[in-house]
Amino acid sequence: MTSFTEHEQNIFVSFYLQMPESNKRLVLVAVICVTTLLLLLMYCKTMGSFSLASQQMVIKPKRSTFPRQLPPSPSCECMNHSVLLKDVLPKEQREAIMQRRTKEFQQHKARTSSVLSKLLYALPNSPLQYPIQGYTVRPLTPTLIPVLELHAGKRDSYKRAARLAQVSPAAEGGLGTFSSGQLPSSQPRCSKHHEGSAAGAQPPKKQAKTEQQLATETARLHRELEEVFLNVSKGILTTVTPDAQVTVNGAGTRGLSIESSSLVLLNELLAKVSYTSSTYHINSGDLAFFRFESHEALFPIVIKQPQVPVLYDMGTDIRSQVTIITKTFLRYPQLKVLLASIRKFYPDITVIIADDSFEPEHISGENIQQYIMPPAQGWFAGRNLAVSQVITKYLLWVDDDFFFTENTKIEEFVEVMEAVPELDVVGGSVEGNQFYFSILYEEGDGVEGGCLIRKSGGKFHPLPDLPKCYFTHGVVNFFLARTDAVRRVGFDPQLQRVAHSEFFMDGLGSLMVATCQDVKIGHQRKTAENTNPRYAKFRTPTKSDDGFKSQLHYFKNHLKCFLYS
Ligand SMILES: *[C@@H]1O[C@H](CO)[C@@H](O)[C@H](O)[C@H]1NC(C)=O
Ligand SMILES: *[C@@H]1O[C@H](CO)[C@@H](O)[C@H](O)[C@H]1NC(C)=O
Repeated sequence: MTSFTEHEQNIFVSFYLQMPESNKRLVLVAVICVTTLLLLLMYCKTMGSFSLASQQMVIKPKRSTFPRQLPPSPSCECMNHSVLLKDVLPKEQREAIMQRRTKEFQQHKARTSSVLSKLLYALPNSPLQYPIQGYTVRPLTPTLIPVLELHAGKRDSYKRAARLAQVSPAAEGGLGTFSSGQLPSSQPRCSKHHEGSAAGAQPPKKQAKTEQQLATETARLHRELEEVFLNVSKGILTTVTPDAQVTVNGAGTRGLSIESSSLVLLNELLAKVSYTSSTYHINSGDLAFFRFESHEALFPIVIKQPQVPVLYDMGTDIRSQVTIITKTFLRYPQLKVLLASIRKFYPDITVIIADDSFEPEHISGENIQQYIMPPAQGWFAGRNLAVSQVITKYLLWVDDDFFFTENTKIEEFVEVMEAVPELDVVGGSVEGNQFYFSILYEEGDGVEGGCLIRKSGGKFHPLPDLPKCYFTHGVVNFFLARTDAVRRVGFDPQLQRVAHSEFFMDGLGSLMVATCQDVKIGHQRKTAENTNPRYAKFRTPTKSDDGFKSQLHYFKNHLKCFLYS
């Protein structure tokens, strides 16, 4: 604003003091008049822009804006004493291994996530009705979208204003200067000068177009048209052919709009909107965008090929329900003790033995299947081989140096599994040792990898109505499991020597595991006769075994560090 500089003020004051009294009075009156005029002008200008701003604020549509996705997860912190897996990689190959891992991880992400993992928000006060969960379609198959409806109340001036603002550039946060002609009549008019400058800021051509748009829009509003818009990205939208009072645009494309002066007719067409995915995928999703005026919504569409169930017939007795499996290597004395103890309690149950001994010894007997492997194929390879031959719903894993007692009641395990059908694995106790653990896992930032701690003794709450059984993440080497679930996770045959927890790590989040204290099995004592020095040599992990395991965790499990505690 205009103001006097200090210098100008000084000149003015000294000039004023030198004047005669009568002149002074005249000057004073003049100064008061000018000041009043200036103040009035300033007031007008401020009020003008203020009311313009407030007008913009009022008519700016309460556009529903979806908050952005949550920020990416931060990298996880390795606990003290963790093994830092990057350090274990051979120096000269480190870069190449890291690059290969990054590529595989990206593929893993692509396989395991979809738009359906996106966080969606329902915004308040919306007249839009749509499915929020459970709308599932088969690939390439038209499927009606249920409950699609518009609940627009009677229009009021606010809604009209919102509609107006929607087509004006002001609402888009552009230049946003209205000429007086565009503003509703309630807009206070202060000075001609202001109007002129505001209109002058805009190119005349653009203004004309905006006015024309507004005129069209206003005309539409006067006819009280309702219009909804829907779009999707991986399919097309269709509805039935409308009658005269409804206009449908984009049927058979990704974006569909329906317009009518009748809410009833519009809703009739909305109720008949179908989605058809246009690409084949067995397990994917799409997000539908639904808009009416300034109200927006996103809802998920699950695209899924139904799976054929694979069921097991439980038959009538324990033999048709459970197969006992074990893996042996150079421990025939122990194996024979185990088999004899099994037969004492379960005379005809099937026993599967995977055997990778150097000089295999034939094991005979009713319902005993011995599978001879190439020598020293390893621990998990043997477990996998045995699992692959099971035809019953459940398998019971035992080590070859265990022995059955009167407390080895397989039926109790089966009862637990049948009572809680979501369970995949239930462990017991070996010579009084229930050994169970939880796995604390953080995915990390997706670049360095996750952090994992195997925590001995970790468990959750008891199973419903089974106070002696608890949910946990991993159990001891004596467990009953669903055959299909174990096959899905598998025992990684790369793990040749000491390995057990690794199965539960690979299965974290896919296996429901529990531990029960009442089902027990015995562990044979080491004696001079049953100890094979050659066995010990293979069984004891070497430094290179540990290094290999760490590399496996680094790459396969995309871990940064792990800790067994
Ligand atoms: C790790 O150990 C250091 C030193 O003993 C200690 O200050 C720190 O709090 C520990 N960090 C964690 C995560 O336990
Ligand atoms: C659907 O329309 C909205 C608004 O026009 C747009 O922002 C969005 O990108 C569109 N979505 C798809 C999948 O085309």
